[in-house]
Parts: sequence; structure tokens; C-alpha cells
Amino acid sequence: MIIALNNKCNLTKDEFILYKKELQKLKKKETEIILFPSSIYLSNKIDNISIGSQNVSHYSSGPYTGEISAEQLKSLNVKYCLTGHSERREKFFETSDDINKKIRNLLNYEIIPILCIGEKKRSNLSKNKEIILDELKQSLFGLSKEEIEKIIIAYEPVWSIGTGIIPTGEEISEIINSIKANYPNNKILYGGSVNSDNVEMLNKENIIDGYLLGGLSLRLEKVQLLIDKIEN
Ligand code: PGA
Repeated sequence: MIIALNNKCNLTKDEFILYKKELQKLKKKETEIILFPSSIYLSNKIDNISIGSQNVSHYSSGPYTGEISAEQLKSLNVKYCLTGHSERREKFFETSDDINKKIRNLLNYEIIPILCIGEKKRSNLSKNKEIILDELKQSLFGLSKEEIEKIIIAYEPVWSIGTGIIPTGEEISEIINSIKANYPNNKILYGGSVNSDNVEMLNKENIIDGYLLGGLSLRLEKVQLLIDKIEN
């Protein structure tokens, strides 16, 4: 199981120092924890925790003020990188073409992309499946089968992110099974309002390889509860 902690744009330097200490105390057996801190903290090494970046430039190195290249991430031992998060798509107007370029840059430096996809509205399931498969197709355009298999897919219904509302187990398995039918060898995470109360229900479906946590990532006592529930 993977537990991905997306801190988003949170934690000052002093807060991060405390957070890091608490993170090191998390007890786990098999679970891989990936921390996605703000980019200013990416050079931190934390025992038993993998580091992921929340973003990467769609350019390679060069005159791109404010950007961070895949090569720079690699030099910090970053192992994973989020791409296509709905906040990047909506608030920073990232297109599937940008996401495709980012994925290619990451793969060139052997950083594992975690590609986020998800429908904006909770509506008709078959329409949502179509939306999701279309997002995947566009973001993965032109990549070889071997390249695609290196990517982790994160299914995050946009309407569920930060709202406290999650799909039913049935809705989630319908969507994840349709992703698996097209991408049988990719790991699939679920994200959107996951917490220590609903994780048992989500995990019951047995088709999810891990969880992407936003808000909960800042509450490590709750993350510990969640890990205990999925490991026991
Ligand atoms: P949330 O965020 O857990 O706060 O809903 C998930 C995400 O943005 O990936």
C-alpha cells in the first residue's frame, strides 16, 4: 500500500521542522509513505519516507523563471511527482498537453509520475468513465506501453477533493475497474476526502493500491490511525 501525503501550499519552515519530527514517528509495516512537501523542503531526507514533488516544469532546464526541472528534482533524489492534479488544471490552467510533457520529462529522469485524473461533477457513471479514460488517453498520448506502465494513476473525483464527500464503494469500483480494463498493469490510488473513518469502507473493495491524502496529510495522528486500519 502507498500513502501519499500532499501538503499542498502549507507549513512554514518552523512548522515543517516539527512536522518532520512527527512524521518520523509514524509506525507502519509494509506501507510506503510518500511525502509531497512544498518544493522549498524537497531537499529534506526523512528516514523511511519517500519524497515526491507536487509539480515539475513542462520545460527542461533553461531560461524559465520560477520553474523546477525534472533534472533538478532528480538531483534531490525525488522519487515521485504529481501531475495533472485538479488544482493545477483548474487554478493554473494546465492542459493535457502540458501534463504529457511533464510526464515525458519525469520519465526521462526516472522519476515516477503520479497522474491525477477525475471527473468534475458527480453525475452519470458511464459519462464519468468516458471523461476519465479520455483524460488518461490525452495525458498519455504517444507514450509506449513500457513508459505507461511506470506511471501510477490517482483517481480523484474533483467534487470529492476537500469536500468531505466521497463516492460509494460501488461507484469507486466501477471507475477503477474501467481504468484497470484499459491499464491493467498500473497501480491505482484513490484520493478525495480520505480519512481514518472512511478508509475501511474504501479498502473493502480491495482494488485500490493506496491513497492520496490532502487535508489529512497535515494531521499525522489521523494518518497513523488510517495506516493502522489499512494494515490490520
Ligand atoms: P483532500 O485532497 O484529501 O483534502 O480531499 C486530496 C487531494 O487534493 O489530492
